[in-house]
Amino acid sequence: MSRPELDKVNKLNFYQNLLKEIYSLVEENRSLLNTNNVQFLVEDHWNSKFNTELKNDLEIFLKEKLENNSSVNLLKYFIQNQPDPKLPYLNSLFDRLKNLFNTWDYKVCTNQDELIKMDRPDLIEFNQIVKQRFTIVQKQNRFMNTKKLYEVDHMSKFVASLCKKQDIFNIVDIGSGRAYISAQLSSSIFDDQFNVIALESSENNVESSMKRLNQMKNNKTPLCPLQVESKFKTITKFIQSSTQLNDIIRQNKASKQLENYALIGLHSCGNLSNSIINIYLDNRESERKLLCNVSCCYNLLREKYDIKIGDINEMDKKSCFPMSQYLNDLKYSLSYNMKIQACHCLFKCLSSVDDFKEQDNLIRWYRCVFQVIIYEFFKSKFSDDPNSTDFNVTVGKKIIGSNSVLSFVSYAKNALKKLGLNNEELNDDKINSYIEKNSIMKQRFDIYIQLKYILSTTMEYLILLDRLVYLYEVDHEEKLEHFLVKLFDPVKSPRCHALISYTK
Ligand SMILES: C[S@@+](CC[C@H](N)C(=O)[O-])C[C@H]1O[C@@H](n2cnc3c(N)ncnc32)[C@H](O)[C@@H]1O
Repeated sequence: MSRPELDKVNKLNFYQNLLKEIYSLVEENRSLLNTNNVQFLVEDHWNSKFNTELKNDLEIFLKEKLENNSSVNLLKYFIQNQPDPKLPYLNSLFDRLKNLFNTWDYKVCTNQDELIKMDRPDLIEFNQIVKQRFTIVQKQNRFMNTKKLYEVDHMSKFVASLCKKQDIFNIVDIGSGRAYISAQLSSSIFDDQFNVIALESSENNVESSMKRLNQMKNNKTPLCPLQVESKFKTITKFIQSSTQLNDIIRQNKASKQLENYALIGLHSCGNLSNSIINIYLDNRESERKLLCNVSCCYNLLREKYDIKIGDINEMDKKSCFPMSQYLNDLKYSLSYNMKIQACHCLFKCLSSVDDFKEQDNLIRWYRCVFQVIIYEFFKSKFSDDPNSTDFNVTVGKKIIGSNSVLSFVSYAKNALKKLGLNNEELNDDKINSYIEKNSIMKQRFDIYIQLKYILSTTMEYLILLDRLVYLYEVDHEEKLEHFLVKLFDPVKSPRCHALISYTK
């Protein structure tokens, strides 16, 4: 399938219609998506959060799997494309999702190679130099873990190619953390072509980034950043939509001139991604500019219309979710549970579909059964309101330790100890009785978790498309073009989408 060539208005219409479609899908499943896994038993999610048709189909699915002695693997059923006629509701939900994923891949996302096609001799030569340098640099210790190395190498090459193509030689990295990508872009790997400013709100991270760079320099690492010190600057600064970035750039450039620049962010968490988009759109001074932002941590995204939080009266409301006119008109809110769910990655699960994280799910299940114990013995310790279901007890993963095949009795005892809870009635037999009497629900819990994974992508797509639509709505400069690109392999790096925009 090839991408449709649409002009800007048509593109906006197309994306707005898709946003409405995703919104409908999310809303139809809100009661399920807006749940906390821990409450599965105590709030009886199986009987109260699924619509009747869906629950009936899932019961049939479960019964058949048990009769045939096969594993209850809904993820596998989702990708197998062998619809069972006895499950009409489930099949139609899965068809809609697969259509959406198809549309997303072929009509929303642009192929990254299309954007960095090198058709000028100087670009081809630059590309060759970078390729050679990477063969050297990949052998040296750059003090990053494997995941970060993959992201930094891939994104730095992509950004460098886009910048070169656009004749942009200044890069501002926002939320730079330990300056992995910004330092690399300023280094001789990219032929010392780019001046980079790294902006980061945490003083600790800035200090740690300088330590890392000095360590590399002292090790006499070839192709190390900081060899041409004027090319790289890191500054501690909290960034929001109203930040006057042009002033910061002028102050920190030797020439004191504002030149064309690229704004980048690698895993800009929560609202930071939206602030970066606003700063990019508000900058009317540079003739050429470029945006390349990969977001993460949707759970940190503050919302404008979350009734639990009430009216947010804060400076940077402009960077809160939602951004697009359509979702603003609806006063749309996702809720905390849904944003947590948006952080999951279906495609990572699908890569190991034959053994769906059994062990993880067992610990999740223990936590859920442990919640029944808390409700029966200790609820008053956590909530003054006896009817409240709205309290959160953090047990944490640390209590599992290195023993990944813990029994429920050990799990519950560790958790009670950690939380400082004690009741004489709770001996080993009593604790064990909880896992036994709820065991019939374990497979239903597995299905519930898997279905939430399958649906999680809709919320991530909603958040990303909301931003893309906003770019089209707010941008009245005919010269800008906007794209969503699947920049990383989601199995290696689940938050893999980059929002790109630049001057034509
Ligand atoms: C997930 S980390 C990514 C760091 C880095 N880009 C990387 O890929 O390693 C996000 C970083 O953004 C920083 N940050 C969050 N909000 C910020 C803000 N409003 N202004 C500046 N930095 C911010 C955090 O301190 C954190 O270091």
